[in-house]
Amino acid sequence: MHLPDYKDARTRDKRGYKRVSFKFSDELRNKYRNKSYFIKTYGCQMNEHDSENIAALLEELGFTLADSYLDADLVLLNTCSIRENAHNKAFGMLGRLKHLKNEKKGLIIGVCGCMAQEVSVVDEILRDYKFVNFVLGTHNLYQLPNVIDAAIENNLQQVEVFSREGDLYEGLPVVRVNPFKAYVNIIYGCNKFCTYCIVPYTRGRERSRAKEDILKEVDDLICDGYKEVTLLGQNVNAYGKDLYNDYNLGDLLEEIAKKDIPRIRFMTSHPWDFTDKMIEVLGKYPNIMPSIHLPVQSGSNRILKLMGRRYTRESYLELFHKIKDTVPNVSISTDIIVGFPGETEEDFLETISLVHECQYDNAFTFVFSSRDGTPACKLKDNVSISEKEERLQRLNKVVNYYFLENNKKLEGATLKVLVEGISEKKNMYYGYSETNKLINFVSEKDLEMGEIVDVLITSAKTWSLDGKCK
Ligand code: 5AD
Ligand code: SF4
Repeated sequence: MHLPDYKDARTRDKRGYKRVSFKFSDELRNKYRNKSYFIKTYGCQMNEHDSENIAALLEELGFTLADSYLDADLVLLNTCSIRENAHNKAFGMLGRLKHLKNEKKGLIIGVCGCMAQEVSVVDEILRDYKFVNFVLGTHNLYQLPNVIDAAIENNLQQVEVFSREGDLYEGLPVVRVNPFKAYVNIIYGCNKFCTYCIVPYTRGRERSRAKEDILKEVDDLICDGYKEVTLLGQNVNAYGKDLYNDYNLGDLLEEIAKKDIPRIRFMTSHPWDFTDKMIEVLGKYPNIMPSIHLPVQSGSNRILKLMGRRYTRESYLELFHKIKDTVPNVSISTDIIVGFPGETEEDFLETISLVHECQYDNAFTFVFSSRDGTPACKLKDNVSISEKEERLQRLNKVVNYYFLENNKKLEGATLKVLVEGISEKKNMYYGYSETNKLINFVSEKDLEMGEIVDVLITSAKTWSLDGKCK
């Protein structure tokens, strides 16, 4: 049994790590052929992609996908720690699973993902959720087949959580959810330690994958007919710093852009590491999608400093405008937190004024949620929860106004859309534009899924656009 430890999770040293090729154990292959699984995924794209690896590992063990958690022999929660409500949802699900397990004694229940890295969560599971068969951390996902096997064979609760990252495993199997759009991890972990954020503790230090491994994965995806790759990392802009002297995200993007892949996206970018070379590359290659997620978090310099964000309102705006001026028709989205401890009305108004200046195409807005073990959880907070909620409503009104205004400017324009499916509710095709806007559209001719088509935009809504295929 390995339990999580925050002291280890905080450590950042210069230890090298080995690149290890994953090999599935022949002994375990298809051992559980008569069993089914269900994965419930919470949180970000990183977790969604981990679930694609988890599904593949389970399928190599012989499990088949169940239609619902109610029918499955194994239910796995791939959890998120970022805010309290993600926590509450996972614990709510564990409550439902407890009842299910009373009826189905052989049900196997596992918890993995970010919550598994939290000391208090694992303590709580060991104390109050004894029916959970195993807990597996984010750094040792590759051990999943053995952990499940041991949990079933020994009928004991298994907890395997490493708080210091070990080797970097390549070649984990994957079952991709979307046949045209693929996630590709390029860097794991985060060294930024923004004071409110739990990610550096749950995902560990920054570790880049070797460029050869990434390029090979992209080549394989192209061979398999994928049209879009999204390069993933908690902070993709730090790519390469831990591995190379002079090779960064700009270089990687450029190498991928020269390949025959129609769409390249990347997320998430911390403004601190955004280099001029990157901006230049974005402007140069039409297959790098002009859609950038650039979290600002706050418009107040005082709050940015307390958040440990390493930039000022002024330097963020300078970067924002440089990107807007260099990358044709770029859309920029952001994340904003309101109600950080001690945020005053003046601080909040600074955020509102920054939104008026940036007029974002999309924004994810949150109320600050105190996370155990982070520096911000110790800050004095005199802002009431109702005040924070009220600020969120006010902020949402402003961001929504600009979503609609920006969308209205697209009425009459022709956008390239990757056809993803048919929405049953609307009986229309849907897909995303280059700037990542959701487009619902009609077409006189039948379209192939995965095709990229020209769509004339006929009307704008706040979160989507309607159109007609040309
Ligand atoms: N409370 C609220 N929002 C948070 N985020 C990260 N940590 C917290 C927290 N403790 C938000 C940030 C980040 C996004 C992924 O989640 O805005 O960019
Ligand atoms: Fe969290 Fe900041 Fe790292 Fe983003 S950059 S994952 S907000 S610590």
